[in-house]
Amino acid sequence: MIAAPDAPLPTPDAAAVPAVELRGIVKRFPGVVANDGVDFDLRVGEIHALLGENGAGKSTLMNVLDGLYRPDAGEIRVLGRAVEFRSPRDAIAAGLGMVHQHFALVPTQTVTENVLLGLARPRLRLDLRHFDEEVADLARRHGLAVDPRARVWQLSVGEQQRVEILKMLYRGARILILDEPTAVLAPQEAADLFRTLRAMVAGGSSVVFISHKLGEVGQIADRVTVMRRGRVTAAGVATRTTTPAGLARLMVGREVVEAIERSPFAPGPVVLRLRDVAAESDRGLPALRGVSLEVRAGEILGVAGVAGNGQSELAQVMTGLRRCTAGSIVVDGGEVGNRAPREAIGRRVAHVPEDRTGVGTAPDLSVADNLIMKSYREPPVARRWSIDRGAVRRFANRLREAYAIAAPSVETEARLLSGGNLQRLILAREIASEPRLMVAVQPTRGLDVGAIATVHRLLLDQRAAGAATLLISEDLDEILALADRVAVIYEGRIVGLFDAAAADVATIGLLMTGGSATPAAAPGDAGRSVP
Ligand SMILES: Nc1ncnc2c1ncn2[C@@H]1O[C@H](COP(=O)(O)OP(=O)(O)OP(=O)(O)O)[C@@H](O)[C@H]1O
Ligand SMILES: [Mg+2]
Repeated sequence: MIAAPDAPLPTPDAAAVPAVELRGIVKRFPGVVANDGVDFDLRVGEIHALLGENGAGKSTLMNVLDGLYRPDAGEIRVLGRAVEFRSPRDAIAAGLGMVHQHFALVPTQTVTENVLLGLARPRLRLDLRHFDEEVADLARRHGLAVDPRARVWQLSVGEQQRVEILKMLYRGARILILDEPTAVLAPQEAADLFRTLRAMVAGGSSVVFISHKLGEVGQIADRVTVMRRGRVTAAGVATRTTTPAGLARLMVGREVVEAIERSPFAPGPVVLRLRDVAAESDRGLPALRGVSLEVRAGEILGVAGVAGNGQSELAQVMTGLRRCTAGSIVVDGGEVGNRAPREAIGRRVAHVPEDRTGVGTAPDLSVADNLIMKSYREPPVARRWSIDRGAVRRFANRLREAYAIAAPSVETEARLLSGGNLQRLILAREIASEPRLMVAVQPTRGLDVGAIATVHRLLLDQRAAGAATLLISEDLDEILALADRVAVIYEGRIVGLFDAAAADVATIGLLMTGGSATPAAAPGDAGRSVP
């Protein structure tokens, strides 16, 4: 069916010639040496994980390989041939494609149109049906379930990622670089992706897989390379010889013990009360179907569920980013449902959103401006009718230090931060607003193990300070470690509510996937709300 549009693929002697060899790669940015003489090898037919703390230089190294950045020094060989890519276009012509941490799809166009984007054909839309079939076939063969005619804005993040992978496969990529692909995936979606990747490498493709999840690195990768502050600290180690704890030590250079200490549960008055809240998804389908919940001061309520069961919409109705079609949302006695976001902010609702670059930050503004977004109307930042730039800088520098946001300065544009540092920026801003209610959606997504421990501590500090927290996470371990109570969401309904201390993982897992709990395992306490 589809021939690779440009260059034919070299057919290497699989065992002998590495898919990729990087030698002595140096890449400097103003104020940072992101890659400081890095060597890296990718064998044909392997999945090679790249690990490292936030800001270690993983994405930079792969952007150099992909032709997005020119290295300041070093050599790149692809399938034995020295290359100097001037752009990702050159890379893809050599059979190498990268899927980034932040996707680059056109939301208003269909899946097929996105897959074809930038290719010489088709100039006309006439033949689109033919291409729909081609894309559907390619998707089927690689186990990447997605509807070619759907528009990208209608897709879940997991589906959008499949489109990005399809784009590369359609162009004939045999070397695939995936930058934190599972950070945005639910466990089931990750399992599907792993199956796809396994099949691809069995067919002679090669994969670089960047991840912070040590468990899955051991599960999916054949070898692992660890980076730390721009350098390699472990090169191409076979994963069967490693343990998650050992990998963590290599990453951060010390023992990582995540012993979470929680103060006893001392709930105060009700801060958040949802009554029969209903809302629609972007596609106009029912996303929330009568959700009732309460969260008290000093309490963390964890909302567990598989992605796409209404979690995003739940966070959005509470922060004024989505309309409710029914019900009420009261924070500290005042209605915030169907009000402008300012109403929620005025009631000191903080939001750590799912979407860091669209909702969470303004990528083209500086770190400082992003940090003051919530407080620019208040002193000391606001000075009568203007903004006190000196105060802004002091405020921003204080947060940068306290939250260890790695950026050359607070004047650096937010889009230049590494993925994990962007998340720290959002957390810093939201926590600095001293919230009454914190709505945190996947707050540790994309963070390295050390940073995850820090965020967990911060959320527990908030709880101790009397904030109410709604923690929406697909990571059940995270919920069980932090939450006082656990609500399970499925198809827009709360299908179970448990005391975390007494919660049974198997029962929650069952409810998350649409099963029903046995009566004994789901106590009918007063706070429980089952439609
Ligand atoms: N275009 C750029 N301009 C300036 N600095 C940059 C740019 N891209 C990356 N950096 C800096 O280079 C360093 C390495 O960043 P990189 O994105 O490679 O880290 P990473 O290992 O991918 O981290 P994460 O796990 O958080 O995604 C960081 O200090 C980052 O701020
Ligand atoms: Mg990165």
